[in-house]
Amino acid sequence: MEAKKSKKKLIIILVIVAVLAAAIVIFGVPYFKRHFIEVKMNEAEAINTPAVDLGTKNILTVYFTRNGNCDFEDNVDAVSSASLMRDGDKLIGNCELAAEMIQHSVGGDIYAIRTKKKYPSSYTGTVGAASEEFSEGTKLELEGELPDISKYDTVFILYPLWWYKVPMAVQSFVQQVDLSGKRVYALVSHGGSGEAGSVAALEETAGIKIERPFFTLFDDDAAGAKDSIGEWLNAIK
Ligand SMILES: Cc1cc2nc3c(=O)[nH]c(=O)nc-3n(C[C@H](O)[C@H](O)[C@H](O)COP(=O)(O)O)c2cc1C
Repeated sequence: MEAKKSKKKLIIILVIVAVLAAAIVIFGVPYFKRHFIEVKMNEAEAINTPAVDLGTKNILTVYFTRNGNCDFEDNVDAVSSASLMRDGDKLIGNCELAAEMIQHSVGGDIYAIRTKKKYPSSYTGTVGAASEEFSEGTKLELEGELPDISKYDTVFILYPLWWYKVPMAVQSFVQQVDLSGKRVYALVSHGGSGEAGSVAALEETAGIKIERPFFTLFDDDAAGAKDSIGEWLNAIK
């Protein structure tokens, strides 16, 4: 009787372990793969999007990306480029590449949000630093001059989802520029969570309305996103 019960227990445990292992393989491996290896790509080819006419050329594409905001060493070959893309010696972030695709397609200017404080070079270090920023509500100082927003009537804002939220750097940017009266579009890059309600939060922080539909970019798809971004641009024009 006891032996029968133990056998049943063992079978249940094995089934649970098998289900968990299958879940990790199906859902976990793509995440790990993307966040702990680099993706080699050809930047010029990746951003070669067809032209889309938005009826204006006064367009600013603003992006925030991990690349360029981390304490990377000067020697890029020594950098752990996990979660980043690489074209030869150049590292490229997901939102950076998507911003280049948009600019290539619709024209206008491009602006990178940069923080004075740099994040740790390791992916997990940045995840930890961002978590502290959110829990402490850190106000981030930005590096360099802000763009002259008055020159533009259309603004694209691209950001990676961080802890289901808009990164503090992007919150800081929208609080310092006047986006009222502009047509504002958003692209959110993520590792599986979608935009997670962050666009509505960004609207509230910036005190503006963001046009629909916004675009959600799964990080695994960034290098090959030119067609889907092109479709989105055609849909919003
Ligand atoms: C600090 C940090 C927090 C993140 N939090 C989330 C998250 O909550 N949900 C998610 O799907 N992806 C999350 N990610 C993954 C990024 O959103 C995703 O990899 C994005 O494409 C990175 O874009 P980038 O290369 O332009 O920085 C996080 C990444 C970092 C660095």
